[in-house]
Amino acid sequence: MKPQLIAIDGPVAVGKSSVGLRLANGLGYIFFDTGMIYRAFTWKVLNSGISPEDEQKLCHLATTTEFNFTPSKEGALSVIVDGQDVSSKLLCSEIEELVALIAKVAGVRQAMVSQQRKLAERGRVVMAGRDIGTVVLPWAELKIFLTASTEERARRRYKELLKRGDNSSLEIVLADLKKRDEMDINRIISPLKPAEDAIIINTKNLSLEQVVDKIYTLAVNL
Ligand code: C5P
Repeated sequence: MKPQLIAIDGPVAVGKSSVGLRLANGLGYIFFDTGMIYRAFTWKVLNSGISPEDEQKLCHLATTTEFNFTPSKEGALSVIVDGQDVSSKLLCSEIEELVALIAKVAGVRQAMVSQQRKLAERGRVVMAGRDIGTVVLPWAELKIFLTASTEERARRRYKELLKRGDNSSLEIVLADLKKRDEMDINRIISPLKPAEDAIIINTKNLSLEQVVDKIYTLAVNL
Protein backbone atom coordinates (compact mmCIF):
# COMPACT_ATOMS: atom_id res chain seq x y z
CA MET A 1 0.00 0.00 0.00
CA LYS A 2 1.27 3.46 -0.87
CA PRO A 3 1.96 5.80 2.07
CA GLN A 4 -0.70 8.44 2.78
CA LEU A 5 1.89 10.93 3.97
CA ILE A 6 5.40 11.51 2.68
CA ALA A 7 7.68 13.98 4.50
CA ILE A 8 10.60 15.57 2.67
CA ASP A 9 12.90 17.68 4.81
CA GLY A 10 16.20 19.40 4.14
CA PRO A 11 18.05 22.73 4.09
CA VAL A 12 17.58 25.76 1.84
CA ALA A 13 17.70 25.07 -1.93
CA VAL A 14 18.35 21.35 -1.66
CA GLY A 15 15.55 20.66 -4.17
CA LYS A 16 12.68 19.74 -1.85
CA SER A 17 10.05 21.57 -3.91
CA SER A 18 11.15 20.36 -7.33
CA VAL A 19 11.45 16.79 -6.07
CA GLY A 20 8.27 16.94 -3.98
CA LEU A 21 6.14 18.38 -6.76
CA ARG A 22 7.25 15.79 -9.32
CA LEU A 23 6.87 12.99 -6.85
CA ALA A 24 3.37 14.15 -5.91
CA ASN A 25 2.39 14.44 -9.58
CA GLY A 26 3.70 10.91 -10.23
CA LEU A 27 1.75 9.49 -7.31
CA GLY A 28 -1.38 11.59 -7.90
CA TYR A 29 -0.90 13.28 -4.51
CA ILE A 30 -1.08 16.90 -3.37
CA PHE A 31 2.23 18.66 -2.81
CA PHE A 32 2.66 21.24 -0.10
CA ASP A 33 5.82 23.20 0.51
CA THR A 34 5.52 24.39 4.12
CA GLY A 35 8.16 27.09 3.58
CA MET A 36 5.36 28.90 1.75
CA ILE A 37 3.28 29.19 4.89
CA TYR A 38 6.18 30.74 6.85
CA ARG A 39 6.83 33.04 3.90
CA ALA A 40 3.13 33.94 3.66
CA PHE A 41 3.06 34.77 7.35
CA THR A 42 6.22 36.89 6.94
CA TRP A 43 4.44 38.72 4.10
CA LYS A 44 1.58 39.43 6.49
CA VAL A 45 4.00 40.67 9.18
CA LEU A 46 5.66 43.03 6.67
CA ASN A 47 2.28 44.39 5.63
CA SER A 48 0.93 44.80 9.13
CA GLY A 49 3.72 47.06 10.40
CA ILE A 50 4.45 44.78 13.38
CA SER A 51 8.09 44.57 14.43
CA PRO A 52 9.52 41.10 13.57
CA GLU A 53 11.15 41.20 17.02
CA ASP A 54 7.86 41.63 18.91
CA GLU A 55 7.13 37.99 19.74
CA GLN A 56 3.88 38.68 21.56
CA LYS A 57 2.37 40.55 18.64
CA LEU A 58 3.71 37.96 16.19
CA CYS A 59 1.98 35.16 18.10
CA HIS A 60 -1.30 37.07 18.22
CA LEU A 61 -1.07 37.79 14.50
CA ALA A 62 -0.30 34.12 13.77
CA THR A 63 -3.44 32.92 15.55
CA THR A 64 -5.72 35.56 14.02
CA THR A 65 -4.58 35.25 10.40
CA GLU A 66 -6.77 33.12 8.17
CA PHE A 67 -4.92 30.71 5.91
CA ASN A 68 -6.47 28.73 3.08
CA PHE A 69 -4.91 26.50 0.49
CA THR A 70 -6.21 25.83 -3.00
CA PRO A 71 -4.73 23.50 -5.62
CA SER A 72 -2.91 25.33 -8.42
CA LYS A 73 -2.66 24.14 -12.04
CA GLU A 74 0.82 22.73 -11.39
CA GLY A 75 -0.46 20.41 -8.67
CA ALA A 76 1.00 22.40 -5.76
CA LEU A 77 -1.12 24.43 -3.33
CA SER A 78 -1.59 28.19 -3.51
CA VAL A 79 -1.57 30.04 -0.19
CA ILE A 80 -4.49 32.37 0.51
CA VAL A 81 -3.96 34.81 3.39
CA ASP A 82 -7.12 36.55 4.66
CA GLY A 83 -8.78 35.91 1.31
CA GLN A 84 -5.83 37.06 -0.85
CA ASP A 85 -3.74 34.68 -2.97
CA VAL A 86 -0.18 35.71 -2.04
CA SER A 87 1.66 32.77 -3.67
CA SER A 88 3.34 34.91 -6.33
CA LYS A 89 4.68 37.40 -3.77
CA LEU A 90 6.66 35.05 -1.57
CA LEU A 91 10.02 34.50 -3.24
CA CYS A 92 11.43 38.02 -2.84
CA SER A 93 14.56 38.94 -0.87
CA GLU A 94 12.60 41.11 1.61
CA ILE A 95 10.81 37.99 2.82
CA GLU A 96 13.92 35.78 2.68
CA GLU A 97 15.77 38.17 4.97
CA LEU A 98 13.15 37.89 7.71
CA VAL A 99 11.50 34.51 7.40
CA ALA A 100 13.97 32.44 9.45
CA LEU A 101 13.85 35.00 12.28
CA ILE A 102 10.05 34.86 12.41
CA ALA A 103 9.98 31.06 12.05
CA LYS A 104 12.01 30.78 15.29
CA VAL A 105 9.13 32.03 17.43
CA ALA A 106 7.38 29.22 19.33
CA GLY A 107 3.84 30.64 19.11
CA VAL A 108 4.21 31.28 15.39
CA ARG A 109 5.38 27.71 14.80
CA GLN A 110 2.52 26.30 16.86
CA ALA A 111 -0.04 28.13 14.70
CA MET A 112 1.71 27.13 11.46
CA VAL A 113 2.07 23.48 12.49
CA SER A 114 -1.63 23.24 13.23
CA GLN A 115 -2.37 24.54 9.69
CA GLN A 116 0.00 21.96 8.23
CA ARG A 117 -1.57 19.11 10.18
CA LYS A 118 -5.03 20.15 9.07
CA LEU A 119 -3.83 19.93 5.48
CA ALA A 120 -2.32 16.51 6.04
CA GLU A 121 -5.69 15.18 7.20
CA ARG A 122 -6.68 15.06 3.51
CA GLY A 123 -4.17 12.20 3.08
CA ARG A 124 -2.18 11.46 -0.09
CA VAL A 125 0.08 14.41 0.62
CA VAL A 126 3.77 15.04 0.00
CA MET A 127 4.84 17.72 2.47
CA ALA A 128 8.22 19.45 2.34
CA GLY A 129 9.93 21.55 5.00
CA ARG A 130 12.44 21.50 7.83
CA ASP A 131 10.57 19.66 10.62
CA ILE A 132 7.92 17.60 8.84
CA GLY A 133 9.40 14.21 9.77
CA THR A 134 10.40 15.27 13.29
CA VAL A 135 7.56 17.51 14.51
CA VAL A 136 4.70 18.17 12.08
CA LEU A 137 4.02 14.61 10.90
CA PRO A 138 6.23 12.23 12.90
CA TRP A 139 3.68 9.53 11.94
CA ALA A 140 4.35 9.95 8.18
CA GLU A 141 4.94 6.51 6.68
CA LEU A 142 7.89 7.66 4.55
CA LYS A 143 10.40 10.29 5.66
CA ILE A 144 13.12 11.59 3.38
CA PHE A 145 15.93 13.98 4.29
CA LEU A 146 17.72 15.56 1.31
CA THR A 147 21.27 16.88 1.58
CA ALA A 148 23.83 18.62 -0.67
CA SER A 149 26.84 20.82 0.10
CA THR A 150 26.29 24.51 0.85
CA GLU A 151 28.20 25.53 -2.30
CA GLU A 152 26.19 23.17 -4.51
CA ARG A 153 22.91 24.49 -3.10
CA ALA A 154 24.02 28.12 -3.52
CA ARG A 155 24.91 27.42 -7.17
CA ARG A 156 21.47 25.86 -7.76
CA ARG A 157 19.65 28.77 -6.06
CA TYR A 158 21.76 31.31 -7.99
CA LYS A 159 20.82 29.69 -11.34
CA GLU A 160 17.15 29.70 -10.31
CA LEU A 161 17.31 33.41 -9.45
CA LEU A 162 19.03 34.25 -12.76
CA LYS A 163 16.24 32.44 -14.61
CA ARG A 164 13.70 34.56 -12.74
CA GLY A 165 15.57 37.70 -13.83
CA ASP A 166 16.94 38.45 -10.35
CA ASN A 167 20.58 39.53 -10.76
CA SER A 168 21.93 38.78 -7.31
CA SER A 169 25.55 37.58 -7.06
CA LEU A 170 26.64 34.05 -6.16
CA GLU A 171 28.44 35.47 -3.08
CA ILE A 172 25.25 37.12 -1.79
CA VAL A 173 23.21 33.97 -2.42
CA LEU A 174 25.80 31.86 -0.57
CA ALA A 175 25.89 34.26 2.38
CA ASP A 176 22.08 34.34 2.65
CA LEU A 177 21.84 30.58 2.42
CA LYS A 178 24.46 30.11 5.19
CA LYS A 179 22.67 32.60 7.41
CA ARG A 180 19.29 30.88 7.01
CA ASP A 181 20.79 27.40 7.46
CA GLU A 182 22.51 28.54 10.63
CA MET A 183 19.23 29.91 12.08
CA ASP A 184 17.20 26.86 11.00
CA ILE A 185 19.74 24.36 12.40
CA ASN A 186 20.44 26.13 15.68
CA ARG A 187 17.00 27.28 16.74
CA ILE A 188 15.70 25.78 19.97
CA ILE A 189 12.26 24.79 18.69
CA SER A 190 12.00 22.31 15.83
CA PRO A 191 15.54 22.70 14.48
CA LEU A 192 16.34 21.39 11.04
CA LYS A 193 17.51 17.78 11.46
CA PRO A 194 16.65 14.37 10.04
CA ALA A 195 14.11 12.25 11.91
CA GLU A 196 15.66 9.11 13.38
CA ASP A 197 13.80 6.97 10.86
CA ALA A 198 14.38 9.27 7.87
CA ILE A 199 16.11 8.00 4.75
CA ILE A 200 18.94 10.39 3.93
CA ILE A 201 19.59 11.05 0.25
CA ASN A 202 22.65 13.02 -0.80
CA THR A 203 21.61 14.63 -4.08
CA LYS A 204 25.16 15.60 -5.10
CA ASN A 205 25.65 13.32 -8.09
CA LEU A 206 21.99 12.70 -8.83
CA SER A 207 19.71 14.40 -11.34
CA LEU A 208 16.28 15.62 -10.27
CA GLU A 209 14.71 12.62 -12.03
CA GLN A 210 17.02 10.19 -10.24
CA VAL A 211 16.11 11.61 -6.83
CA VAL A 212 12.39 11.47 -7.68
CA ASP A 213 12.72 7.88 -8.97
CA LYS A 214 14.49 6.78 -5.81
CA ILE A 215 11.74 8.17 -3.55
CA TYR A 216 8.98 6.92 -5.86
CA THR A 217 10.42 3.41 -5.68
CA LEU A 218 10.60 3.63 -1.88
CA ALA A 219 6.98 4.86 -1.75
CA VAL A 220 5.45 2.17 -3.95
CA ASN A 221 7.39 -0.61 -2.25
CA LEU A 222 6.55 0.40 1.30
O1 C5P B 1 11.87 26.28 2.26
P1 C5P B 1 11.88 27.77 2.26
O2 C5P B 1 13.21 28.37 1.91
O3 C5P B 1 10.78 28.38 1.45
O4 C5P B 1 11.58 28.15 3.77
C1 C5P B 1 11.62 29.49 4.22
C2 C5P B 1 11.95 29.50 5.71
O5 C5P B 1 10.81 29.04 6.43
C3 C5P B 1 13.10 28.61 6.14
O6 C5P B 1 14.36 29.26 6.06
C4 C5P B 1 12.75 28.31 7.59
O7 C5P B 1 13.21 29.33 8.44
C5 C5P B 1 11.23 28.34 7.59
N1 C5P B 1 10.63 26.99 7.59
C6 C5P B 1 10.54 26.35 8.79
N2 C5P B 1 9.93 25.13 8.87
C7 C5P B 1 9.43 24.56 7.76
C8 C5P B 1 9.55 25.19 6.51
C9 C5P B 1 10.19 26.41 6.45
O8 C5P B 1 10.99 26.86 9.81
N3 C5P B 1 8.80 23.38 7.89
